[in-house]
Amino acid sequence: MPEILILNGPNLNLLGKRQPEIYGRETLADVEAACAAIAGAAGASITLRQSNSEAQLIDWIHQARETAAGIIINPAAFTHTSVAIYDALNAFEGPVIEVHISNVHKRESFRHHSYVSLRAEGVIAGCGVQGYELALARVLRLIG
Ligand code: DQA
Repeated sequence: MPEILILNGPNLNLLGKRQPEIYGRETLADVEAACAAIAGAAGASITLRQSNSEAQLIDWIHQARETAAGIIINPAAFTHTSVAIYDALNAFEGPVIEVHISNVHKRESFRHHSYVSLRAEGVIAGCGVQGYELALARVLRLIG
């Protein structure tokens, strides 16, 4: 059964409580439940993880080389700063889809650049937490 890793970067542990006018009221547990149901119906499984640590996210990407068929990643603020996460994703061979809950292009200019977009097969932004479900549908299609 193919596994898809859903990675979340800093502050997303507060999803549902943090700036709900931007990020909504649903939590990562809600995202996990919705994506698990979609993956299960497609004969796949998901593992959802969140860390505030860049090093931890990189270690999980390295592990995914052995365990995951695809990665969905919301790198949060590391999107705009982390060459190290970009390099780690380049060491992963499966499809990568980047997700942003908010429309980063409608926000501050420092959010307009993404290192991860240089690696990702696709980018979904501004669709709320539904973006994770859209990304999952795309990864499932790409892994066939
Ligand atoms: C975010 C957008 C980032 O700019 C921000 O730093 C986040 C969340 C999003 O999901 O919209 O923490 O990745």
